[in-house]
Amino acid sequence: MVEAAAPRAVLGIETSCDETAAAVVVGGRQVLSSVVSSQVDLHARFGGVVPELAGRAHVELLSPVVAEALVEAGMDVRPPPRRGSTVRLPPVGEDPSRNLAAVAATVGPGLIGSLLVGVSTAKSLALVWDVPFVAVNHLEAHLYAASLEDPDLRFPTVVLLVSGGHTMLVVMEGHGRYRLLGQTLDDAAGEAFDKVARFLGLGYPGGPAIDRVAMEGDPEAIDFPRALMEGGWDFSFSGLKTAVITYVRAHPEVSTADVAASFQQAVVDVLVEKARRAAKQERAEALCLAGGVAANSLLRERFLEACQADGLRPFVPSRAMCTDNAAMVAAAGWWRLQLEGPSPLDTGADPAMGLCLAG
Ligand code: KG4
Ligand code: ZN
Repeated sequence: MVEAAAPRAVLGIETSCDETAAAVVVGGRQVLSSVVSSQVDLHARFGGVVPELAGRAHVELLSPVVAEALVEAGMDVRPPPRRGSTVRLPPVGEDPSRNLAAVAATVGPGLIGSLLVGVSTAKSLALVWDVPFVAVNHLEAHLYAASLEDPDLRFPTVVLLVSGGHTMLVVMEGHGRYRLLGQTLDDAAGEAFDKVARFLGLGYPGGPAIDRVAMEGDPEAIDFPRALMEGGWDFSFSGLKTAVITYVRAHPEVSTADVAASFQQAVVDVLVEKARRAAKQERAEALCLAGGVAANSLLRERFLEACQADGLRPFVPSRAMCTDNAAMVAAAGWWRLQLEGPSPLDTGADPAMGLCLAG
């Protein structure tokens, strides 16, 4: 008798901020579906994410988003027969890899109301389907985005993780094993993009707006400061943000495109320079980019150039995998499941969760 292969598909759920997302990924690599419903239009008129509105929108959007991800992936998620039941259900999906191994959800960091929607939904589905629940750290999920699209990701790898809430240089030493080299002492890179865009009247979300407007500007027009924080691996972007505001107030006639381009260049110079230095110190063979700011056109271009110049293997996820999505959550969930097994069902959401570091 041929034994049925163990299920390898994970349903991932992401609701940490303003994207409602669900995805099905097999074996931590093969993306069968990835559905993202953005709440950008809902929050745009407020100039930023309104936590209460985000939580309520997740409640409305999550069920249809999960259903779409399951249907698109061709998953068969009929509940298993109850013990002692005499009712015989038809056999589940023909491809065993398409039967669920677990339901994974982001448990932190993020907005508490938003996180709770995803976490409680994931636990309920895991209970109903009688499969494990896996708690996923959102930062760890971002680190896995690159490996989803490039199976060659080898350890150790230096990862530059740049998002709306975090800016970190991390050495990924193995699955679930990280060493934090440095992080921002004040604003995250994405936060700086969002705040500067808001000041320039470019709207929300600020990163993509600056990316767009900067294409029309001169990146050498204004020499904004680059805080390289010599001798360490930490970052600081609040001084740069203040420098932009001070400059524009003193030169009201300045071209917005030139300010956006010069600001973007200053951020990218610092990020790329520190990532290169870190790769050199760690004797890494590869350099990996992750997080929403990794969708930035100039950063992607300069990152690839730097890797080529230094003989490093670049891992740059597609733009869709850089910004918040559930495929990265399902991938991180798969590896967590291999490392630690299921998470207890009383695992709570943790809005201030840090990256679990290498032990
Ligand atoms: O990873 P992410 O989707 O959510 C968090 O975990 O924070 O990152 C969102 C951040 C926002 O600050 C947004 O402005 C920034 O990523 N971002 C960009 C671009 N696309 C998104 N920043 C610069 N250029 C972009 N093209
Ligand atoms: Zn994120």
